[in-house]
Amino acid sequence: MGIRKLQTNTSGILDIEGHQIELPVIEGSEGEKGLDIGRLRANTGYVCVDPGFVNTASCLSQITYLDGEKGVLHYRGHPIEDLAENANFLEVSFLLIYGEMPNPTELKQFQNDIAQNSKTTQFISSIGKALPKDTHPMGILSSLMVALSADKPELVKQDLSADERNLAVHHIMAQIKNLTAMCYRVNKGLDFVPSDPGADYVEDFYTMTFKGTEHESLSPVVKDALNTLLILHADHEQNCSTSSVRLVGSSKANPYASIASGINALWGPLHGGANQAVIEMLEQMHADGGGYKKFVEKAKDKNDPFRLMGFGHRVYKNFDPRAQIIKKACDKVLNQLGITDPLLDLAKGLEKEALSDPYFIERKLYPNVDFYSGIIYKALNIPNQMFTAMFALGRLPGWLAQWKEMLEDPKMKIGRPRQIYQGKSLPSEEE
Ligand code: CMC
Repeated sequence: MGIRKLQTNTSGILDIEGHQIELPVIEGSEGEKGLDIGRLRANTGYVCVDPGFVNTASCLSQITYLDGEKGVLHYRGHPIEDLAENANFLEVSFLLIYGEMPNPTELKQFQNDIAQNSKTTQFISSIGKALPKDTHPMGILSSLMVALSADKPELVKQDLSADERNLAVHHIMAQIKNLTAMCYRVNKGLDFVPSDPGADYVEDFYTMTFKGTEHESLSPVVKDALNTLLILHADHEQNCSTSSVRLVGSSKANPYASIASGINALWGPLHGGANQAVIEMLEQMHADGGGYKKFVEKAKDKNDPFRLMGFGHRVYKNFDPRAQIIKKACDKVLNQLGITDPLLDLAKGLEKEALSDPYFIERKLYPNVDFYSGIIYKALNIPNQMFTAMFALGRLPGWLAQWKEMLEDPKMKIGRPRQIYQGKSLPSEEE
């Protein structure tokens, strides 16, 4: 695996105003091809215009591969279906960050390194306690992530050594589970529960969240479901939040500031915030009498800003493999927990209706990862407002892996796109 640059005689030829310009071709390990336009402006005066970066590869990466046409997703050569079925979240986090599945010794060491960084300081608790009860969990996560920089002032500097980057990885992996649990406790007005350094990662998160409530006992079904959801969220190459982490990190901002930018980007309803928006949409449909056809018509109406939340994806134009795994998991978890949720039937009916509608077929709009995830989170007693924070907990290893990969690239440059200015010109001298 890896990225190889084809022989120098492999290039694309671009014809601009009668001049032929050679652009080197870069090929990925799965056969993807890209034109290297790094010297285009210097050689021709032209830049590329690509709003929304629909056609721009912002980096070379060895972490995650996805083929949106075939519905394929793998982390470092491991199919997502296999990882979701057979691995736990911490193993997958190690795989993403360090490149290989951990052996038992490496996994133990990783667990210990995280455990050693898992204490919540007085300072962080005091900010958490000062937050109003109804603060949105993503606001809590984002503020406290930046505040964590005060816990490790030695990491707030321009260049980090390999050991310091690892310390950042362990500290942030440890702390995000505390912070995500704190979101629940702030919203419920409950005291915080300290982390247990000896506990399994998911169990520790669960206990810090639910201790002292009616949901405090963690069943194997719930633990498995949490591991699956976190694994499915763990990385998704250069999406909006990951690109934000890379962009902010490329200024050599500290790791806390870089990861907080990912949290902020994820909050948006077109990205991670869609999981909360899906449940709210399904609840609205249910309250409205369960007629999903009306909502499909609304989503198709170009004069109505309403979109079918949990549908469509920038890259997947066939099916989102994560959505398929989650749909199955949803049936299994609700079944095992003995829960009947009318929203699940509504979601299935809505999916069927949309998938047979020419509007959705022509535009290749399929359910995405957020379509069914909220229904499982709801079954696990996670409040709607917290769904996106759960996504952030899962996405963290991906952000850290991408941040680390970028900093370790000797060719790293600050991210700084160009623009085409279309505003007023300076007055000419004759005027
Ligand atoms: N409902 C109705 N129409 C849609 C939808 C939708 N959910 N998604 C896209 N379209 C239409 C869109 O109006 C456009 O139609 P036309 O060609 O007639 O103008 C066409 O499909 C292409 O859409 P686009 O907005 O150009 O596509 P994009 O790649 O820029 O946006 C998206 C991708 C995910 C933001 C979009 O599909 C969307 O808003 N979906 C709903 C929000 C959502 O579920 N987000 C979660 C994404 S997956 C997880 C994650 O990233 O966190």
